[in-house]
Amino acid sequence: MSQKHQIKIKSPAEVEACAEAGRLLAGIVKDLICSLKSGMTTADVDALCEGLIAERNVIPAFKGYRGYPSCACVSINQEVVHGIPGPKVIRDGDIVSVDIGIIHNEFFSDTAVTVGVGSLSKELNDLLQVTELALQVGITQARVDNHLSDISNAIQNFVEAKGYSVVRDFVGHGIGRNLHEEPEIPNFGPPHQGPVLEEGMVLAIEPMVNLGSWQTKILDDGWTVETLDGKPSAHFEHTIAVTKEGPRILTSC
Ligand code: MF3
Ligand code: CO
Ligand code: CO
Repeated sequence: MSQKHQIKIKSPAEVEACAEAGRLLAGIVKDLICSLKSGMTTADVDALCEGLIAERNVIPAFKGYRGYPSCACVSINQEVVHGIPGPKVIRDGDIVSVDIGIIHNEFFSDTAVTVGVGSLSKELNDLLQVTELALQVGITQARVDNHLSDISNAIQNFVEAKGYSVVRDFVGHGIGRNLHEEPEIPNFGPPHQGPVLEEGMVLAIEPMVNLGSWQTKILDDGWTVETLDGKPSAHFEHTIAVTKEGPRILTSC
């Protein structure tokens, strides 16, 4: 499936359309995070998300995608990604990953954040901090003339030096008129491999970082991904554009 020559280079107007979708999504996530409270179910989080999406007259990108039933992926503690919202209750001391995608004027944006609810242990606090920094470290490599895997390698080096592991089974991706476009962007691997980055590439970079080992499993619901060892996991994602001036984060307010 990996056809690196098929990476779509966006025109300046297309990058701006992605940026507009990104800005709207960042606002949705900001509002959602402010309302997260212990006692809510993950279905409550999705309902909030659905309302915030509707307020902005944009389209949820995940609902119906390969049969996915909800607007948001809500993954708690040992859940890595793709948690299906349901009756699970969020408790004080939990970490909650929320991943949302929208479509605005035919362009997609995709972002994820992991937040703590109530007071977090130092162990979990550090995990969130390292994962968010890993995303920043990866984004910094998204510059013209770098190779794609410079992003991957920088993330892996950073995460492993801190004593954590990076998930191997799920990767970042190009994005634009589709949620998932070429190229795949692993969060691990050797540097200086893969396509050379060019102005006009729009990428979703999304490290998933585990406190324990990198292995994961998919639950019987066919979606929810958990760590194999049951230890916590965090996930941060931004949609970014490669520009001559350096990486531009599109999913920020
Ligand atoms: N948000 C995921 C990603 O970052 C994809 C979610 S798949 C869905 O690529 F089916 F849940 F929508
Ligand atoms: Co996402
Ligand atoms: Co994504």
